Amino acid sequence: MMVKKITVWAPANIAFIKFWGKRDEELRLPMNSSISINLSNVFTNTSVQFDQKLIDDEVRLDGKVVNGKEKNRITKHLDRIRKLAGASTRAKVESKNNFPTGTGMASSASGFAALSLAASSALGLRLGERELSILARIGSGSACRSIPDGWVEWKEAKTSDGSYAHSMYGLKHWGVCDVVAVVESAKKGVSSTEGHALVESSPFYINRIASMKEKVKDIKRSIKEKNFSRFGEILEAEAINMHAVMMTSVPALIYWSPETLKVILKVKEWREKGLEAYFTIDAGPNVHVICLERDVHKVEKLLRTIKGVRMVIVNRVAPGAHLV
Ligand code: DP6
Repeated sequence: MMVKKITVWAPANIAFIKFWGKRDEELRLPMNSSISINLSNVFTNTSVQFDQKLIDDEVRLDGKVVNGKEKNRITKHLDRIRKLAGASTRAKVESKNNFPTGTGMASSASGFAALSLAASSALGLRLGERELSILARIGSGSACRSIPDGWVEWKEAKTSDGSYAHSMYGLKHWGVCDVVAVVESAKKGVSSTEGHALVESSPFYINRIASMKEKVKDIKRSIKEKNFSRFGEILEAEAINMHAVMMTSVPALIYWSPETLKVILKVKEWREKGLEAYFTIDAGPNVHVICLERDVHKVEKLLRTIKGVRMVIVNRVAPGAHLV
């Protein structure tokens, strides 16, 4: 039996309060809640087709056959979905990112969100948003935030059933933009999965965790009230806090390149001159510059003048994963 091919679009997301450190590595349960928006211009399209003629899953990413560790993680995720559906059929998975690989842009969030929705739909499972978010989370933690629309909160919980993402606000709530400066970088650093496992070795991690509940509350208030100055202050300090933990882990995780710091200093300089923009950075060298719609063209133009910035990607708040 060959079942219908299903294609899904799923966005990447940028977290303002970050997920760094797990209480359960298998289930990918986070130590703290996190807050994000979906990105309109960094996304993955994935199609899945189950076919009884296949003897193994076939996975292609950007046209290239995927093997080894990367494929294993995908097959394991397909196995979870097959188990839910009581099926054993193998699948053909074709996934395409709209951003070039090797840019240090994360693809696991959009990738696992898309795979979860596509594979579960192809097997006839009609999962609700909460169940889908939980499923995507087990594939890659941050993927759970790419399921709901717009402004998203992923709740920390001690059980798998309690830790999922939900939409706090839709696309129209607030015109916040994320202008990504993709910078030159020599090599790919330690993966986020490996990085999460090192948190306990940083002497600062205990302190970070102790402040998270309050931070989540504060940023939620700033989003509700659309207080951009407060919002920006919190998200920038939060990114620095996470990177302080990364840099003080054993071994030390240094995701920044010289260009990363160059962009950081520029953002600060622009702010002193009255351009209200703030930065955040994930487990890589690229800098996400957060600003309001009114300043987005200016920020984009300025970022393009910095030597070492390879590409600039303008994002607005986007919907979550959906069938196309
Ligand atoms: C720094 O979701 O990539 O981007 O569950 O191991 O796949 P795994 O981790 P992942 O971690 C994301 C880390 C981060 C912060 C964030 O997006 O919240």
